[in-house]
Amino acid sequence: MARRRFMVGNWKMNGTALALGEAEAIALAAAHHPAVDVALCPPATLINRMAAAAPTLRIGGQDCHDAPAGAYTGCLSAEMLVDAGARLVIVGHSERRSGFGETDTMVRAKALAALDAGLSVIICVGESLTVRETGNAEPHVLAQVSGSLPPLDDQNVARIAIAYEPNWAIGTGHTATPADIAAMHGAIRRTLGAHGDTVRLLYGGSVAPENVASILACRDVDGALVGGASLTAAKFVPLIEAAAG
Ligand code: PGA
Repeated sequence: MARRRFMVGNWKMNGTALALGEAEAIALAAAHHPAVDVALCPPATLINRMAAAAPTLRIGGQDCHDAPAGAYTGCLSAEMLVDAGARLVIVGHSERRSGFGETDTMVRAKALAALDAGLSVIICVGESLTVRETGNAEPHVLAQVSGSLPPLDDQNVARIAIAYEPNWAIGTGHTATPADIAAMHGAIRRTLGAHGDTVRLLYGGSVAPENVASILACRDVDGALVGGASLTAAKFVPLIEAAAG
């Protein structure tokens, strides 16, 4: 089955209303490339306004709680993201795993809650530099995949993407080699079993206009999860154009 290209911007804790013009410019450019699915995940405070300002983009959250509501100060449920205009959510980003102690079990619960609420999910996995240097990157990442993914079925499979983001490549300017990316994506795809052909696999970690072509050329890479280079149209639009081929 042919998988559509998927380019996702993760704005992290960056952006106020002043940045909405960038989203509008990205939407305008993305409209010229209908074969590419383009999403932006701004801070939650901007979801509603960005969904209104750039309705042709898929707007998403960067995290959600696994409960629908309750006494969880500072958290947002998947239903709240939907209510704000989100169509997807990132779960298990390495900055959540390492900075907020999120485990595979928690990530899976969040993914299930998001799917139940009708969102698509991008589930992030990736190894630290120590794990890579000790030669354990593949078993580490495959264990994260099996621990963080909800059971795949015909109903949810088209709404699940996995982002492989080596922690040491995020925000550092270092990227994994195309050979390493292809090997890891291939290994992830093989563990997905019968549904493996449908799930989109994204690469993330310092994706930029200079390296995007070689990354997207890797077998089993369907798109990218982009941090720094998604904050402006000047940097993100070339990535969308590269994905359009
Ligand atoms: P980066 O971030 O592109 O700035 O490295 C990627 C990510 O954290 O998703």
